Amino acid sequence: MSKPAELLNRIYAAGLPSVEDLEEVLSWQGRVELGELFVFADKVRKDFCGDGVILRGIIEFSNFCDRECFYCGLNKNNRRLERYRMDKDELSNAIEYLVSCNIKTVVLQSGDGKWLDTLWLKEVIENIKSRFDMAITLSVGERSADDYRVWRQAGADRYLLKIETSDEGLYSSMHPKMDFKQRLACLGVLQNLGYQVGSGNIVGLSGQTLKTIARDIIFFKRGNFDMIGIGPFIPHQDTEFAGQPKGDAQLSLKTIALTRIVTKNTHIPATTALGSLDKDYRLDGLKCGANVLMPNFTPQPYRKLYEIYPQKRCVSEPVGSCRSCMDGIAKDLGRFIDYSKADSFKLTGDRYV
Ligand code: 5AD
Ligand code: FES
Repeated sequence: MSKPAELLNRIYAAGLPSVEDLEEVLSWQGRVELGELFVFADKVRKDFCGDGVILRGIIEFSNFCDRECFYCGLNKNNRRLERYRMDKDELSNAIEYLVSCNIKTVVLQSGDGKWLDTLWLKEVIENIKSRFDMAITLSVGERSADDYRVWRQAGADRYLLKIETSDEGLYSSMHPKMDFKQRLACLGVLQNLGYQVGSGNIVGLSGQTLKTIARDIIFFKRGNFDMIGIGPFIPHQDTEFAGQPKGDAQLSLKTIALTRIVTKNTHIPATTALGSLDKDYRLDGLKCGANVLMPNFTPQPYRKLYEIYPQKRCVSEPVGSCRSCMDGIAKDLGRFIDYSKADSFKLTGDRYV
């Protein structure tokens, strides 16, 4: 067996791989080694998740945010950004459109903060659940255990709360007034409430090293998350990190591949950030471990205002053109679009088939 193959097999077979082994793979640059990594990850994806490319329709219903993350264009200190909040009718229309495209999971995402009324969102969840047979994923940041409970009881199924980096020092350095331990506590509450929980990181953050990323992957494994979103950092002009270099596409793909090999049956999206670099790397992501796409159903004029980072993919396309784009991507890969709700494989059984 070749040396790279030996290392990949050791990582695959380990209950918890070593930081050093992961770091070594993350440092690979050669075409042959990278080829082995991506083929290995693709095989693990096929064995544990099958050939279905799962769809999650995302609606970014508000860009208000009370936080000050150094990398994010929605941070509250960005006074240049025009803020919006979709009302219930607008949201309802967007959801109806998504349903008409045969998509069965909606991700309701917004900035983080008290401006979001707990009962307002509860009613939105109840309304969707009473009208449609669909899964609801929330992505609205850190809240109280009570809020999380209310939304879960109203019918929310899943929750995305990325750790962004699992290094506490690094986390603190770019999240003023936020507390790493609080974020971990939120994740624990969400899991205990029975949400399917998503984590993830940003690749290429200032101060991050290969070791930090290796530890992120171990964090994902330990957390037994249902979903893991991995995307490259993209600098935004109206943030603290304005002048920082972009995250590296190859490194993001290596992180996706290793996360697949280590965590096996998690849902891993080819993120919008991965599609927003010099070219669209989402296809590459789907070939090295990813099994999910997240078409954007935020209506205009709001979509262009949800500017987490600039040149976000699909910002100017009309709503719904995503659908044919997704079909095209799956066809190019020789895979198919899975139009089911696609619950976590960790709920439905360990292995696909
Ligand atoms: N570049 C890449 N990803 C970013 N996110 C926020 N800001 C950036 C950026 N500048 C990601 C975070 C967040 C998700 C909604 O967007 O991971 O969880
Ligand atoms: Fe809104 Fe980070 S800037 S949560």
